[in-house]
Amino acid sequence: MKLLVTGGAGFIGSAVVRRAIRAGHQVVNVDKLTYAGSLTNVAEVADEPGYAFEQADICDRDAMDRILARHQPDAIMHLAAESHVDRSIDGPAAFIQTNIIGTYTLLEAARAYWSGRGKPADFRFHHISTDEVFGSLGPTGKFTETTPYDPRSPYSASKASSDHLVRAWHETYGLPVLLTNCSNNYGPYHFPEKLIPVVILKALAGEPIPVYGDGGNVRDWLYVEDHAEALMLVLEKGPVGRSYNIGGENEATNLDLVRRICAILDNKRPEAAPHDRLITFVPDRPGHDRRYAIDPTRIREELGWRPSVTLDEGLERTVQWYLDNEWWWRPLLNREGVGRRLGTG
Ligand SMILES: NC(=O)c1ccc[n+]([C@@H]2O[C@H](COP(=O)([O-])OP(=O)(O)OC[C@H]3O[C@@H](n4cnc5c(N)ncnc54)[C@H](O)[C@@H]3O)[C@@H](O)[C@H]2O)c1
Repeated sequence: MKLLVTGGAGFIGSAVVRRAIRAGHQVVNVDKLTYAGSLTNVAEVADEPGYAFEQADICDRDAMDRILARHQPDAIMHLAAESHVDRSIDGPAAFIQTNIIGTYTLLEAARAYWSGRGKPADFRFHHISTDEVFGSLGPTGKFTETTPYDPRSPYSASKASSDHLVRAWHETYGLPVLLTNCSNNYGPYHFPEKLIPVVILKALAGEPIPVYGDGGNVRDWLYVEDHAEALMLVLEKGPVGRSYNIGGENEATNLDLVRRICAILDNKRPEAAPHDRLITFVPDRPGHDRRYAIDPTRIREELGWRPSVTLDEGLERTVQWYLDNEWWWRPLLNREGVGRRLGTG
């Protein structure tokens, strides 16, 4: 299959690109290369004959038309987005632009391309979204595919809008879409402004490890390689118009998560133990959702997928990857905003 992947120089998109190329697919990676994108994320596959890169903004309709006409993909996997909640609090405009206007522009370009080819039934527009569109849970319950939308941050509201657009383009124009909403991802190539890399890199530097609020916010952690596997399965086997929630079945409070990372580092770097002495509570994020949890029954029962990596295994692999790949993360610390507290409102 020939796949057009948007956001393929980002964290999850690059995992999809690497996996798809290794599986023998052709991939056109379309990425604007914002502060969050890096071609080093796809360096492992960049010389493969099936890989092509196009630097472009998904808000640029002419560029999208040109790229679709040039590469003639069988499917689009749409991951390009502004993705950091804290940045959406400081500057929502970029989130409205890329996540809403950009998705709209890509949908229109895809519709014109698909119509122009006689509306092939096997074309797919796979939209990758987040569980944050469902809002915040109390201590019990989980998000299913039918949970009402209740986004509470500029980021999640912009992603919710994009989900609605994708469904509308399916219902109104018949565009063959798929949707997935996943929980928090983690793993190699995670940009060093997100919680898990921040904890690892602060601990390695012997600097305070910031924990928002009381550290009691719960997330359902999904190893990025498991997620990429699930996305490929949904693309290949999911019925048109279907949505799937993808979770890691790995709930943990932020404080528990940080302590587990510190314990792994205590083993690997005993000379600096105990790393948890660096934990520092800082003022909470405004509107911080308390708990997210995914009910993955649909994807398990319909497509036979379940996560393969436990949180302890995934954290161990991730910490080791950051220890082994300073060449990757060190230059990213100089990018705008990285290392500064963002999103205090
Ligand atoms: N990371 C998570 O835990 C998580 C969880 C749920 C859903 N998601 C969703 O998955 C997708 C990928 O997330 P990620 O963590 O890999 O994000 P990321 O921020 O690491 O990567 C986003 C990529 O999109 C590119 N991009 C941004 N604006 C663009 C534009 N206008 N045109 C073209 N390219 C643009 C960036 O350069 C970057 O390479 C996003 O849609 C996000 O909402 C992420």
